[in-house]
Amino acid sequence: MWRPNEESPDLAGLAHDLNNVFETIAEAAELLSDEEQSQPLAAAIARSVERGRRLVDGLADQHLAPIDLAVVVDRAADFVRDLTGLLGRPEVCVLRQFDPGLHLRGPGSEWERVFMNLFLNAAQAMPAGGVITVHALSQSGGHEIHVADEGPGISAEILPRIFEPNFSTRRQHPGLGLHIVDTIVRRHGGAIRAANRSTRSGARFSILLPATQTPV
Ligand SMILES: Nc1ncnc2c1ncn2[C@@H]1O[C@H](COP(=O)(O)OP(=O)(O)O)[C@@H](O)[C@H]1O
Ligand SMILES: [Mg+2]
Repeated sequence: MWRPNEESPDLAGLAHDLNNVFETIAEAAELLSDEEQSQPLAAAIARSVERGRRLVDGLADQHLAPIDLAVVVDRAADFVRDLTGLLGRPEVCVLRQFDPGLHLRGPGSEWERVFMNLFLNAAQAMPAGGVITVHALSQSGGHEIHVADEGPGISAEILPRIFEPNFSTRRQHPGLGLHIVDTIVRRHGGAIRAANRSTRSGARFSILLPATQTPV
C-alpha cells in the first residue's frame, strides 16, 4: 500500500511532468498579461497554476505538516473571487472572524478543497453578491469552524440529503461538492453539520474537529 510519507518514483515522475505543464501555462499567462485587458484573466490563470502546483506538491509529498486556517481560507477566497470575477458576477467577500494561530493537520490541499466547495456553494446562493463569514472557536474538547452566507438558506426538505453523493437542486450540477467536503472532514476525525442562520437568512455549515486534529 502506498503511504503518504513514502516517496514513490512514479509519483515523483508524474509530479515532474505536471510541473513542466504548469510552467508552460504560467509562461502563456505571462505573455497574455502583456495586453492590459487580459491582465485579470492572466492573473486568474497564474493563481490556478499555483493551486495546481500546490496539489502536485501535496501528491508527491503528502506530509502532515499543519496548515494555518487563515492561509487556507485566503486561498479558497481567492479561488471564488477569481471565478465570480471571470463570470462577471458581483463580488463575494470573505470575512475572517478568528484569532491567528489556528492550524489544521495537512494535507493543506484537502482543506483548501473543503473551503473552496463551501465558498462556491455560498457564492452560488448569493448571485447578487454578499458576505461569507468564517468564524472559528477553539475549546479544550475540540474546535469548531463555521461558514455562514447571506443566501436564502437551505429548505428543511432537502437539509437531510445535501451531503449525499449526486444530490443537487441545481440543473446539470454533479452534486458532489458537499459529499467531498463531508468525506474529507470525516477522514480527519471530524464532522460537518448544515443549518440555517438564526438571526438572518443564510446557510451555516459547522465543522467540528477533535482537539487532536488541530495541533498548534
Ligand atoms: N450555501 C448554500 N445555500 C443554499 N443551499 C445550498 C448551499 N450549499 C449547498 N446547498 C444545497 O445543497 C445542494 C448540494 O450541494 P453540492 O453537494 O455542493 O452540489 P451542487 O453544488 O453540485 O449542487 C445544492 O444543490 C443546494 O441545493
Ligand atoms: Mg456545490
